[in-house]
Parts: sequence; C-alpha cells; structure tokens
Amino acid sequence: SFVEEISDPLSSSGDEDDCVADVDWDNLGFGLVTTDYMYVMKCREDGNFTKGELNPYGNIELSPSAGVLNYGQGLFEGTKAFRKEDGGLLLFRPDQNAMRMVMGAERMCMPCPSIDQFVDSVKQTALANKRWVPPPGKGTLYIRPLLLGTGPVLGLAPAPEYTFLVYASPVGNYFKTAGALNLYVEEEYDRSARLGTGGVKTISNYAPVLKAMSRAKSRGFSDVLYLDSVEKKNLEEVSSCNIFIVKGNVISTPAARGTILAGVEERVVPVDELLSADEVFCTGTAVVVAPVGSVTYQDRRVQYKTGVQSVTWELYSTLVGIQRGVIEDKKGWTVEI
Ligand code: COI
Repeated sequence: SFVEEISDPLSSSGDEDDCVADVDWDNLGFGLVTTDYMYVMKCREDGNFTKGELNPYGNIELSPSAGVLNYGQGLFEGTKAFRKEDGGLLLFRPDQNAMRMVMGAERMCMPCPSIDQFVDSVKQTALANKRWVPPPGKGTLYIRPLLLGTGPVLGLAPAPEYTFLVYASPVGNYFKTAGALNLYVEEEYDRSARLGTGGVKTISNYAPVLKAMSRAKSRGFSDVLYLDSVEKKNLEEVSSCNIFIVKGNVISTPAARGTILAGVEERVVPVDELLSADEVFCTGTAVVVAPVGSVTYQDRRVQYKTGVQSVTWELYSTLVGIQRGVIEDKKGWTVEI
C-alpha cells in the first residue's frame, strides 16, 4: 500500500531517503509536485486545535456550504525547507509565519493553532516529505499551511468548524523569466483598500489579482506593481511579493498600513522615487529576492542596474547562503530539523 512504501514519515536519519523522489531536479519550476504526506488538524466549536496527524497527501472532503467555499474564510502561509550540504534540513523563521497566521486568524474571525503547534506541524511535514527536498542549489521544499473554515454555513457568519492543513511541494524559481523582471505599474485595478484585508494573508486577496496579472503577462511583462488605492501615487506591492527600491545606500519599501504584507525599513514610497531608483527588487518566500530590470509607468519605461555588482545580488546571495547553511546565521533565523 501507499503507506507501506513510505513507511516511517518522521524518520530523519539515514541517507537512504535523501533526494530519491522521482523529480527532474534540474528543471524545477514553481508548479505543484505532490509529495507523500500532509498534516491535518481539526478544530471544533470549543476553539481548540488538537490531535493533528500526518496523512497520505490527497483530496479533502468538504461540505458544499463550507465557510471557505462560500465566503472565502481562509488563510494561507508559505514557508520553505532547505537542504544543507550535509543532507540535513533547515527551516527559515517558521515562527514568523505562525505569528502572521495568528494575526490573520484574528482579522478573519477564525481560531488558530498556537505558534508551537504551527511550527511543529511544519517540521513534521518537512521531515515526512524529506525525500522531496531538492539537493542543495536545485530548489527548496515549499511548505503551504492552510487554515480553512470547513464547517457548514448558509447565512454570513464564521464557520462552526476549522481545518488546519499543511502540504508541501518541491519548487525551483518562482518567475519563469530568465534574468530580471519587467514590471507594469497598474493603475486600473487596486490591490486592496485601506482598512481592508491586504495586511493579512487571506486566500481572498489573491484571486482578484489574476486579471491584471494575466493582462500584463499577455503584454510581455513579468507581473504587476500596484499603487495605493487612495492617492494612486505611492507604491504598494506586486501580486505575489513585496517591492524594494535602492537609491544610493538607502533601501526603502512601502509602509505596511494594513493594505500590504509587512516588509522592513518601511515608509511611504512615491512612484516618482521608483522612477529615479538605482535598483529595484522584489522579495517573498516564493520569489526569494528577484531583481527588477525595468518598470513601465504610463508611457515611460525605466531600466535599473542588475547583476553581480548590485545590492540586490548581495542581498540575494547572503539570504540563500544563510538558508542553505553556508553563511553563518548570526540572527538565529534558521531552525535545524
Ligand atoms: C509566498 O511567497 O509564499 C506567497 O505567498 C506567494 C504565493 C502567491 C506563491
């Protein structure tokens, strides 16, 4: 049976299960490659999550009236497991993903696993699917925690039951474009409203970006960069990642004021500064640190410095070095499992 073939999901010892999954590691993109196990934990009306377990990866059964299907009551996270040169695995700041889910659950009226439950479930999912973690330098195991309102509702109300689920897929580069990204500054559609839900990772923030993204891609751009919905002159974020500009020796990123997911060194960044930046780059769990080669705003296309002499490259190579365990982790960001 399936379970016999992959006997002990939490065994991390021994090399026999390392990288043996049937995957073309040299040609990984960011598409779903299903793995052996997913973690499932349910929460009923008392608001407590208990008895999580690893199950074989597979479909889940949902009521047609599940809150998540009817009213979008759901959150997701994205985190990664990295393979070190010695075969061991590292996670990168999984507690931060857990905290973001706790904040999001509060906004979406959902009970949430504790930080420890979340981190433990991510560890268990990574270890159980260890053979799917790409060899060093070939990619990572992307881990996708979901919190879903799975109980039935008809009238608009929080669901009476919730499911926390974690699955994983080996991934390579997020963007198919070789080299730097070409972004289009979107003015027709907004990403999110002030006091809306842009600051939390609810599933309902993502389908609405598909239209502008598909249109930009059909015109040859890599993705769309959104402006704030009130003044239409300050940067927000890209469909799937945050945006940063480099000018001289200062790196800036849009302030998190409830409309975007949080970054670092935050302030209001007017689009005019984007046009005069030296470098521009995007960051995200999926995207890592991706250089932007050009931005098109109205009728103007501006190009930026990229390549190994850039600040973007330095940040990218430092980050992936820490994540792969080849650069010393002075901040305590990595978790060995
Ligand atoms: C991530 O970086 O994990 C994201 O959530 C982006 C996703 C749209 C692939």
